[in-house]
Amino acid sequence: MHATHIDNCLPKPELYAQLASELRSLLEGEPDTIANLANAAALLYHSLPQLNWCGFYLLKGGELVVGPFQGKPACVRIAIGKGVCGTAAARRTSVIVANVNEFPGHIACDTASNSEIVVPIVRGNELIGVLDLDSPDLARFDTSDQEGLEKLVKILVAALN
Ligand code: SME
Repeated sequence: MHATHIDNCLPKPELYAQLASELRSLLEGEPDTIANLANAAALLYHSLPQLNWCGFYLLKGGELVVGPFQGKPACVRIAIGKGVCGTAAARRTSVIVANVNEFPGHIACDTASNSEIVVPIVRGNELIGVLDLDSPDLARFDTSDQEGLEKLVKILVAALN
């Protein structure tokens, strides 16, 4: 079994640096995409404080389809341009929402969610999907989270087949 040693009380830059190293070692030598996304979702969910959902939506047939995640069962399909996930996918840039109740078109999968960050997963010019994190706290995510998560997504993209 893989043991993680992440101290989630660390300042965000240090926490994300530890997560990057942990993620690299989790992915090392494993070519299976589902296995790698599943372990990445579990690592983030159990290492980052104040999350109630963390996982992936993958682009399939022109829409986002839920992939490996941790948290309550979620909406399965999201159109590009819809909700926070579809918006990040359409823009191909990360979207931070301090209060999801004020985001027009937010898709509520878990009523416990109050804030959200979505990071697009892009390889070259190809949109692969998005990484989505939800929190019960308002304004849980800031630009430190965005920077840290974007680096983690780069590590993942390099490992994906
Ligand atoms: N809130 C997202 C939907 C996915 S769930 O949060 C897991 C959205 O608005 O796209």
